[in-house]
Amino acid sequence: MSWDLFVGDGKPHRAREDEEAWRRIPDPPRWRTQSPTEPPVFDLPDGLTVAVNAALHLRRPLLLTGAPGSGKSTLARLLAHELELGTLLRWHITSKSTLTDALYQYDALGRLHAVQARQAAPTAAAPTAPGAAPDPQAATSPGGTSAVPAKTPTAPGKESAAQTSAAPGKAPAASGKTSAVSGRTPAVPDKTPAGSDKTPVAPSSAPARPEQNDTSAADVARFVTLGPLGTALASSRPRALLIDEIDKSDLDLPGDLLDVMENGHFTVPVLARAADGPYRVRGSDQDTYTIPEDGTVRLPLEHFPVIVLTSNRERTFPAPFLRRCVRFEMPAVTEPALSRIVAAHLTDGDPATAESETIAEFARRVEGGDQLAVNQLLEFVYLVSAADPSARDELKKTILRDLGDA
Ligand SMILES: Nc1ncnc2c1ncn2[C@@H]1O[C@H](COP(=O)(O)OP(=O)(O)OP(=O)(O)O)[C@@H](O)[C@H]1O
Ligand SMILES: [Mg+2]
Repeated sequence: MSWDLFVGDGKPHRAREDEEAWRRIPDPPRWRTQSPTEPPVFDLPDGLTVAVNAALHLRRPLLLTGAPGSGKSTLARLLAHELELGTLLRWHITSKSTLTDALYQYDALGRLHAVQARQAAPTAAAPTAPGAAPDPQAATSPGGTSAVPAKTPTAPGKESAAQTSAAPGKAPAASGKTSAVSGRTPAVPDKTPAGSDKTPVAPSSAPARPEQNDTSAADVARFVTLGPLGTALASSRPRALLIDEIDKSDLDLPGDLLDVMENGHFTVPVLARAADGPYRVRGSDQDTYTIPEDGTVRLPLEHFPVIVLTSNRERTFPAPFLRRCVRFEMPAVTEPALSRIVAAHLTDGDPATAESETIAEFARRVEGGDQLAVNQLLEFVYLVSAADPSARDELKKTILRDLGDA
């Protein structure tokens, strides 16, 4: 691997005459890439398998608390892989996240444009939504910013949070002709037969009404996209869902989330109003899911998603939320664990003797209270093997810098 990709003289440094200079940048390190077929390398801290198994048996979310880089997301990927739960669904929380974002988005603006395009060219088929009936809902949502009204008769009681503010202005939903519809193998193959009593939500491969997307009120389904939680709940088998950084959320979100997690159902009001289902909608994994005619997804407990919530301890959570989670605190990483992790990532399992002093120093710093993440150590060890020896001290200062030292 060539170290000096950039020297600062402004001239392209090509390996070969006919190759652009950027082609000299080597492949990324292994821990930066996510193979869909290979499990991630993960050194399990003591007690974590017990917590994971407890959460699985109880069908409770696992709440992982720990410093940045302590392996929380990696554990979620490993769990999804080992339990064959398909592609890991992710919901990254910010202070602006709402439960509705995670359940579904309704692109009112896209729908309005489609209706306008049809009205402007009544005889020619409009490219996005040919022949669909105008939707008064869309026409009364100028700018796509208005929320879908919250009143729905089909799912009383438990849906208030889900019915607030539909996310506006998102990209139009799928045409309804992708993935399972077109015959592509879905990310998670359905194991439950369509129409089974146990799955009120039909699997993605269930036959859907062929013309629903063009000629009826169900056209609206094309403008609905399920968010990661909605996708997990609409799937006819358990999925793995990573809800990252729940501690960054607005105060009410954990409570709103509990409501859906406890009851396993939510309503998409705009579909409930259309009452012309079943609807095929796109999930956050780009597969297609079927929502029953009343616009309500109901999930049986045995298909409950395997949920990993992560927190960097930026806030505490209310007791009613905590009592419904299995909690685990990621411990500070030890020197033997660091040696194993470096070996697994960088030397194909051989002990990383060359950098044992660096590993010991890293462990001492962590024990002494420095905020350091495992990937910093991996990155330093990876780079010193490629860099000019003269760059070592500078690299150490740059890469192994305390994360609390902004
Ligand atoms: N126990 C471990 N075994 C192997 N690799 C680890 C371990 N802990 C962390 N890593 C490595 O450190 C990197 C960061 O891990 P990960 O993204 O899972 O951390 P995180 O806790 O989710 O961090 P953040 O809070 O910033 O999202 C990954 O590249 C991962 O491979
Ligand atoms: Mg993470």
